[in-house]
Amino acid sequence: METRENRIIDITELALRDAHQSLVATRMGIDDLVGACSELDEAGYWSIECWGGATYDACIRYLNEDPWERLRTFRKLMPKTPLQMLLRGQNLLGYRHYQDEVVERFCMKSAENGVTVFRIFDALNDLRNIETSVRAVRKAGAHAQGTISYTVSPIHTVELFVDQARRLQDMGVDSICIKDMAAIIKPQAAYDLVKGIRDACGQSLRLHLHVHATTGVTMVSLMKAVEAGVDCVDTAISSMSLGPGHNPTESFIEMLDGTGYGTRVDMERILRVKAHFAKVFKRYKEFQSQVTGAETEIFKSQIPGGMLSNMESQLRQQGAGDRLMDVLDEIPVVRKDTGYVPLVTPSSQIVGTQAVLNVLMGRYKVLTGEFSDLMLGYYGAVPGEKNRELVKLAQEHARKDEITCRPADLLKPEWEKLRSEALPLAGCNGTDEDVLTYAMFPQVAPKFFAKRHEGPFNLGTDPVTGVSETHPPEGHQGVVTGPITYAVTLSGIQHKVTVAPFDPSAT
Ligand code: CO
Repeated sequence: METRENRIIDITELALRDAHQSLVATRMGIDDLVGACSELDEAGYWSIECWGGATYDACIRYLNEDPWERLRTFRKLMPKTPLQMLLRGQNLLGYRHYQDEVVERFCMKSAENGVTVFRIFDALNDLRNIETSVRAVRKAGAHAQGTISYTVSPIHTVELFVDQARRLQDMGVDSICIKDMAAIIKPQAAYDLVKGIRDACGQSLRLHLHVHATTGVTMVSLMKAVEAGVDCVDTAISSMSLGPGHNPTESFIEMLDGTGYGTRVDMERILRVKAHFAKVFKRYKEFQSQVTGAETEIFKSQIPGGMLSNMESQLRQQGAGDRLMDVLDEIPVVRKDTGYVPLVTPSSQIVGTQAVLNVLMGRYKVLTGEFSDLMLGYYGAVPGEKNRELVKLAQEHARKDEITCRPADLLKPEWEKLRSEALPLAGCNGTDEDVLTYAMFPQVAPKFFAKRHEGPFNLGTDPVTGVSETHPPEGHQGVVTGPITYAVTLSGIQHKVTVAPFDPSAT
């Protein structure tokens, strides 16, 4: 039997995806990433997370970069190490539910182009929303990692999460990840949860832990998880760590010194990775999060760090910059009414935006369409009891019924339709990959296809002179784009309420 003295803890490196998503709004261009690839590949990581999450969206929206080409580049430059992606179950990387055939094709194409580990989650922890992707990933011969979106609430006990882990195991996942996007898993909770799942699911089930660093307590949580039997932790190279990002890889390795636990990661190599990112990271100053230290208020609001600064700018645009604390107080109220949904894309944006509207216009005077859908089951089943009064109100607003089935069961086959819409678009190359880009981002894809031939933009600027190295054309200076508008119904009348630049930076 393995003992504490010889146990190896695996590491997933986040530099190429979640780290820059959390710290510089996912804006890092491919030419600033490739320079680290060969050292990363040789360093001894269990996997390198480098695709999915908000990277796909950012590639086509801001960087004029084909996300599939990015993936193939990574595969070519990192042939040894498993490449990992983050997948939002039935939402894929978009913001609605897709019919099963689209999900299956996406998983197959992602595996074909180089993804070997798929971390699959659902914001509500409704496992019906990840079944299709888990099945498709396994069929493609890749590693399907089932995810528990971690949250804290009166109903979220260790038993509830252990039950979810058991159901994931029954579904046939290759491993399980506890995903704490807001950095709210405290050390003892991490220990109890890992131990609980380990005891219930057995020694052979691989268990991973993903945490952010935002609250300042999670490096200790990682240590407690190690002691409780976790197999793999997620960290980010130190030069792109901390704040709303993650715990530093080098610090994690050093922390294990003298404990009997060890890693396979080669410190000399990763110090060269550190040096690379220390140099290029400076060039993305204008995208850097305002949150740089620790934010313990998150334990109350549970709003992921990446969203805090975004919410502040939302409020400022409405001339209500001083109401942030009110909104942070309102979030737990809204969250309770939804049946304690975990806050991760897209539920974090839905609950956050509704809390902003409640503060600015009065509680539930205005409901966003997305919030009504959440209350009516169109994102899936929520963990707890919904506020029934609010369900009724949502029914009146949205003029549709509450559902209890798996949302994707309501969808008709749509692949052929999406294909026939995508293929005639100027610049569409006719591949399934392009059809998938169009399926997930029907507004952005046509513009991207038309300009793709211009090649990727690099939004980094010289930290001293402020001059970009590659000049993106007008209108692509990399500033966060303008606010978006929601159609909302108030007393039976449609209003347009402009609330936020959508920033899917909360995973
Ligand atoms: Co994350």
